[in-house]
Amino acid sequence: MSSGNIYDTTMGTKERKDEHLALFKQFDLTVSGSTNGFEEWEWIPAETAELRFDAIDPSLSFLGYTISFPLMIAALSGGSDEGNTLNEALAECAEIERIPLGIGSVRSFLENHTGLSVLQGLRNIAPHIPLITNIGIAQLRDLHIRNEIVTLTLDGQFDAIAVHFNKIQELIQPEGDTDFTGIMDALSTLVEKSDIPIIAKQVGHGFSGNDIRQLWQAGIRYVDLGGRGGTSWARAERFRKGDHIEKDPFDVWGLTTAHCLKTALEQCPGMLCIAGGGIHSGHDVAKGIALGARLCSTANTIYQAYLKNGKEGILKTLRNMRTILKQIMFLTGCPTYTTFHNNPTILRQSRD
Ligand SMILES: Cc1cc2nc3c(=O)[nH]c(=O)nc-3n(C[C@H](O)[C@H](O)[C@H](O)COP(=O)(O)O)c2cc1C
Repeated sequence: MSSGNIYDTTMGTKERKDEHLALFKQFDLTVSGSTNGFEEWEWIPAETAELRFDAIDPSLSFLGYTISFPLMIAALSGGSDEGNTLNEALAECAEIERIPLGIGSVRSFLENHTGLSVLQGLRNIAPHIPLITNIGIAQLRDLHIRNEIVTLTLDGQFDAIAVHFNKIQELIQPEGDTDFTGIMDALSTLVEKSDIPIIAKQVGHGFSGNDIRQLWQAGIRYVDLGGRGGTSWARAERFRKGDHIEKDPFDVWGLTTAHCLKTALEQCPGMLCIAGGGIHSGHDVAKGIALGARLCSTANTIYQAYLKNGKEGILKTLRNMRTILKQIMFLTGCPTYTTFHNNPTILRQSRD
């Protein structure tokens, strides 16, 4: 893609989005043996704590809404017919379960103006949850795109804008943008112009401590760490190009979600961290929250549940995650989100 004109692509964003959805139907795009790093921590049981399981309350406040537990569905897609159907199903389920929903890159919606009404229709399906719109950092340098995304958020349909960082994905993608000059200026301009929070989001390869400091410097106060341990976008783009060899060193590029979380909180204790990347179960959600993430995010696990069993599959997966989180809160003696969140007394590093 030329960096001068974001619509000047050899393949439209909509088609690429559909190819991604198809790819994840066909292949496992996680890397065998690559983990999110949370397994290095083990729970400390609280046998003497006096509490009742049915009084355990994992709800919290996020972006002005009360959400039922600390998990969000991360951006999965949008802009194509298939992506729109998926987003509508996700919005219905997220509304029922009262958790935030991230929508896929707005670029494909902007390229196709009828898409914008679909995007805005998601608010009617999900009036009681945070809805987060999304754009890539490389595309954000385009002034037209920046203005469009700010305009899109003026009517209160969205509660935050996620800006995704995906350097290795763009590098491996045949039509990817490999010019990242000027990205941090574009980001600070968006922070200044936007009335709603900006979430800097990685997509499965993680942010380093230095990245977190630079993001803070640019005015960012929310990050989805998108660490290694789940979907590998290096692998996904390699497979999309038809290179199906089992392993490539770039598949495991980056930092685990657990490492990113620890580093981010050390570097910028004020940063609100969302632990995303390889969050597959309630056990992962619980570890992320106890280690200091405000909430966790999950993407491909939800997509796979949808592929197997549609909306029922999504609801079952979310309910199961919430139940496991509550069970761990009960077993560690924490009746509320506040007592469980960022609590060093309930976990120990098992390699100690
Ligand atoms: C099919 C699919 C499409 C995605 N599309 C987007 C997107 O448009 N924008 C974005 O920021 N992230 C996108 N992601 C990345 C996820 O939001 C998430 O950051 C990443 O997959 C890591 O989480 P996971 O290990 O739970 O899958 C997509 C993921 C999948 C599986």
